[in-house]
Formats: sequence, C-alpha cells, structure tokens
Amino acid sequence: MISKAKGFTYVKANMIYMQKWKDGAWGEGKLEESDQFTISGLSTSLHYGQECFEGLKAYRRLDGKIQLFRVKDNAERFQMSCSYMMMPTIPTEVFIEAVKKVVLANADFIPPYGNKESLYIRPFMIGVGDNLGLRPAPEYIFSIIVSPVGSYFNGEAKPVDMAVSQYDRAAPNGTGHVKVGGNYAASLFAQMQAKKAGFADCIFLDPQTHTKIEEVGAANFFGITNDNKYITPKSPSILNSITNRSLRYLAKNHLGLEVVEGEVFIDKLDHFTEAGACGTAAVITPIGSITKNDHKHVFPAHEKMGEYTKKLFDLLTGIQFGDVEDPQGWITVL
Ligand code: PLP
Ligand code: COI
Repeated sequence: MISKAKGFTYVKANMIYMQKWKDGAWGEGKLEESDQFTISGLSTSLHYGQECFEGLKAYRRLDGKIQLFRVKDNAERFQMSCSYMMMPTIPTEVFIEAVKKVVLANADFIPPYGNKESLYIRPFMIGVGDNLGLRPAPEYIFSIIVSPVGSYFNGEAKPVDMAVSQYDRAAPNGTGHVKVGGNYAASLFAQMQAKKAGFADCIFLDPQTHTKIEEVGAANFFGITNDNKYITPKSPSILNSITNRSLRYLAKNHLGLEVVEGEVFIDKLDHFTEAGACGTAAVITPIGSITKNDHKHVFPAHEKMGEYTKKLFDLLTGIQFGDVEDPQGWITVL
C-alpha cells in the first residue's frame, strides 16, 4: 500500500461525517462524499467565530489493524469547547461512534505502518443559519473531515528554531483553554512574522506578565532539566494538550522523571537541557533554540533530539502505532 500523505497538506479522502442541529435537536449523523459546505453567508461561525474543533489521529499498526489514541479525551474536550461557545454538545459515545465510522469509511487513506504517518481526524462544530446580531446561531453543523498526514514541522527528529512573540494568542481569563478558531486566527499574524524571520513557529508568553512561556500556536511546550525534571507550563490560557498529558504520565511512570507543571520563565532557560513542542499534529518536535528580541537561547540538545525527548517520542509513538503496550486504556482498536 502506498501512502497518500503529503506532509501536513490536506488530501481529500472518501467520506466526511455530517450531522445537523435544528429546532433544538440533532438529526441523524451521515457519511457524505462531498467536503464542500453550503451555509448561510450570515452564519455566526463566519462573522463571530462561533466554532470549535478537535484534532486526533488514526494509526495503522504492524498487523494492519487501525487504532485511535485517546479519542474519549478529545470527546470531552470538545464538549468543553462547545459549551464555552454556547453550542450544543455531542455526547461522548456519539462522538466516538462518529469518529470510528468516518475512519473506517476512509480506511484506504490511512498510511501504511512504518513511516510514522497517520490519518488526521478533524471533528468540528460551526454555528450556521441566518443571523445578524451577536447571539448564538439558530443552527449547527457537527462534522468530521479526515486527511492522511505526515509530519507537521517538516520532520520531527531535527530540532527547530522558534522565536518569542510580542503578541498574545489569548487573553487572561479568555478562550485560551478551549480549542476554538478565534485563538488560531489570533495567532496567525505572530506565526507569519516568526516564519518570515526564518523560524519554524513562535512561542507565546503569558498574556498577563509576558515573562513566562505559555505555548506554541499549535502545540504545548515542555523542557527537560539537567536534574531530570519534565517541566511544562501551567496556565489557564493554554490548551490542555492530550499529548502533553500522555507525556507527563510516560515521563513519570516509564522514565522516572519528576514531572512539574509550573512556571517557565523565558529569561531562565539555562537549566533545560532539552525542549520540545508536543501535540497531535506536532507529535514531539524538539526545539533547538528560542530567540527573544536579539537574544538566542540555544539548548544543549540543538543538533538532534535529546536523550529523554527521544525516549518519550519512542514511547508515545510506540503506543500510538501499537508497538508498545497501552498503559492506561488510551487505545481504541477498530
Ligand atoms: N496547544 C494548541 C494551541 C494546539 O492547537 C494543540 C493541538 O491540538 C495543542 C496544544 C496540543 O494538544 P493535543 O495534544 O491535545 O493535540
Ligand atoms: C492539532 O495538533 O491537532 C491541532 O489542532 C493543531 C492544528 C493547528 C494543526
């Protein structure tokens, strides 16, 4: 079987999942061939950003079977995002069944085992229907679109250079903790500036004091210290990454590292030997340096993935592809 993945570029698969909410109730969920939507030009999702989404992956194992990673956690986070956006929620079982259904309908688009490629699954909800004033939409669409994907940052193994942004992606007490489109729109300008300057992406600081690392536009941040700690920022304005939660478990229980969720001051990075960005799309992407204004901080592990980052990468992807035993009921085999 030949892979249909083209890096992290969208490749249309066979089917999408589609379910509509009208008059206070969800209709039946269906698979459809077209990935094009006809919606009112006055939809709240278009004007007021009333939308949210998720991201997870289906993996092809060595024995050819297909499996999902932590789908229940995505279902629960999606409910949180929908609620915050004043949208109807999707019960966990409905979410999981919808994901299974659409993945199986696109099984021939799941890349073969061996290349660390997978099927990216993008569940989302949008407010639709005619609407002018600022209020929740009269109708909603819950849909899932999938695409075969490879790596997000052009190859996971090589550390990337990042720059600190002077802008914020989310406000204190704002929407940073939910996975809503507005956060991503708000991060684009900063991301493009970083990319124009030759960096892989930008790092956002805490919006209140601009002294602590929050996260990357599409991933959480973690670092490994010279005294064997896995440290990751704790903040109400970052996304509670499912990948990061998994790494915290693996760092503690499989590698014996002390796990700290706390403050990561941007001007105090010397105790980190390794750093990385983690997320569904990013998997684990090592960070080789962080530049703030004229100062470039280079981590000791800047030429290749550091020792602990590599161990975490092997454990995480080993579980995701079915080569390492699932320690916590994270895997759903289809
Ligand atoms: N932070 C942001 C802003 C993200 O978009 C993502 C990607 O989903 C993550 C972190 C990582 O979250 P997860 O590991 O659940 O994919
Ligand atoms: C993910 O990792 O699933 C995300 O949603 C990040 C996205 C910007 C590709």
